[in-house]
Amino acid sequence: MAKRFYVTTPIYYVNAAPHIGHAYTTIVADVLKRFYILRGYDTFFLTGTDEHGDKIVAAAKEAGQSPQAYADRISGLFRELWPKLNITNDDFIRTTDPKHKKTVQRILEQVNANGDIYFSEYEGRYCFGCERFYTDRELVDGKCPDHLTEPQVIKEANYFFRMSKYQDWLISYIHEHPDFIRPERYRNEVLSFLSEPLEDLCISRPRSRLDWGIPLPFDEDYVTYVWFDALINYVSGIGYPDGDLFNKFWPYAQHLVAKDILKPHGIYWPCMLKAAGIEPYQHLNVHGYWNINEGKMSKSLGNVVRPLDLVSIYGLDAFRYFLMREMVFGLDSEFSEEALVGRINADLANDLGNLLQRSLTMVQRYLDGQVPEKVHPQPEDDELREFVLSTVDQYEALMTEMSFHKALILVWELIGRLNKYIDTMAPWVLAKEDRVRLESVLYHIIETLKIISVLIWPVMPASAEKMQEQLGLEKKGSGLCLDDVRNWGAQRSMRAVVKGEALFPRVEMKRERGPEAKEKKMEQGKKALISFGEFQKLDLRVATILEAEKIPKSKKLVKLTVDMGEQRTIVAGVAEHYRAEDMVGKQVVVVANLEPAKLMGVESQGMLLAAEDENGVHLLVPDKKVIPGSKVR
Ligand code: MSP
Repeated sequence: MAKRFYVTTPIYYVNAAPHIGHAYTTIVADVLKRFYILRGYDTFFLTGTDEHGDKIVAAAKEAGQSPQAYADRISGLFRELWPKLNITNDDFIRTTDPKHKKTVQRILEQVNANGDIYFSEYEGRYCFGCERFYTDRELVDGKCPDHLTEPQVIKEANYFFRMSKYQDWLISYIHEHPDFIRPERYRNEVLSFLSEPLEDLCISRPRSRLDWGIPLPFDEDYVTYVWFDALINYVSGIGYPDGDLFNKFWPYAQHLVAKDILKPHGIYWPCMLKAAGIEPYQHLNVHGYWNINEGKMSKSLGNVVRPLDLVSIYGLDAFRYFLMREMVFGLDSEFSEEALVGRINADLANDLGNLLQRSLTMVQRYLDGQVPEKVHPQPEDDELREFVLSTVDQYEALMTEMSFHKALILVWELIGRLNKYIDTMAPWVLAKEDRVRLESVLYHIIETLKIISVLIWPVMPASAEKMQEQLGLEKKGSGLCLDDVRNWGAQRSMRAVVKGEALFPRVEMKRERGPEAKEKKMEQGKKALISFGEFQKLDLRVATILEAEKIPKSKKLVKLTVDMGEQRTIVAGVAEHYRAEDMVGKQVVVVANLEPAKLMGVESQGMLLAAEDENGVHLLVPDKKVIPGSKVR
């Protein structure tokens, strides 16, 4: 096998802006790509956006834009985010790209020519959230288990992919390739799906119902089902059916997904590939969910965590480290800012940061910054060296099997071991008594730090490179590899070490808090001019307050029932400035198209506008009575 590695993320739906769930999968892909670079592999990394289907049409409509304009905008948010997270994807695919459309049509033709597509009338229960038909067996109390809504009964003539034909083949393939789907729990889940008869897959939608999709090459009245379209990105993105890129990388393809989309990737996709005459991918790597307060992150719950909010406060590498260290790949994890701060202070500032600073200080103080070229190791030095080399081997094995948290624990054990070595060797004593020993000890400290910098590079590339700069390494980042590291001492410092800025300062929980945060926000507010088009996206309405009651146990919140053409519940933070009963009957201005958010257990479906000055908060009210629901322009 050639040393090649092809990694993909799911292509994300453009119906919502990116959050930490999307960031996690994409960062894992980036960490893997960098790790394979360290192993000397030729790599390719693909991510992108999934832009067709009902979901996108509905979101575009809600935003008052055409599907194309809407998809362009949200796809842009993803594309622009990745460089800010130091993600090094080699391409970014959109399902609206002409080259992707061509490949989808080509594969449909191949599968059709193979006799695996047929036309039939079908009546079934369709969940618009999932964009698919559900069998009775899959529904829980008659409802879609994901969206908790009752699917609609739809009767339509459609094209079907003869997926059932590939069931036995897929079962044998999974048995013959035990790590095709991993970790094992997800392989077992797929085998358990496959223990029941596999139904054929409906792969078209009539254009009379949905026009936003790729037309079937053999019937212009239909568009391709969004999953059949989307999965094909993994081959269209590397040029299938033409191109060297496809031939070079497809045999080494590894997909990364969360458990939500196990079925399309573990079942539909291998069957589609088989029917199109393409080899299956190499591995499907499945991870769990990031949860917030033990629940799923979702727009409607208002608990969505945006990556850049965290990065701007705590730094990018700290964020990347936290995600990789905290989640056990395959299982769900709880996200909390407290845990993030805890990890930064303990692992980064205390353990690694202090170790680096104290080591560089000693080399500068005792050796004028010059690391010796030749030393005379003693048994304690050899023991350290062996510990380091065995760490490198174990690290490589753990990263290869996607046990990122264990690989990082191992690196931190090495950090602990080096701290202990320094304490035992006490270079500050040797400096007074034994120059030869001092040189050997400091040499071994710096050599170990160089190796640590290489091992952390996939997860914290910018910090690792700064560390390499401070250690005086000539080659940095992707210029280094694990084999260099194994060749102890080969990575000569080309110049003196330089003690620079502390790489990982201690942090406090300071999100949205403190006067500086407020000032910074105002500063940003001043700079961020918006266009008239963006302003027009705001839906401001006049509402009459029908009922108001203070929310128990909250100092600030009042629950309001308002009439704005329709009745809505709004939670407002004005209890310190208005008595609830005085608010009833007032007319106020409301942001009507804000994502709902839960505050103290009450869902708020909008936000009141108020002015704030040193005398308090003052509601914005129209100067005459207006019809409730009137638009504010
Ligand atoms: N468009 C489809 C995928 C098509 S791939 C051919 C889709 N898009 S999505 O925008 O909903 O993205 C789902 C993926 O986002 C998950 O599989 C996972 O990679 C990531 N995550 C979204 N929320 C997540 C969490 N809360 N936690 C972890 N990852 C999550 O499905």
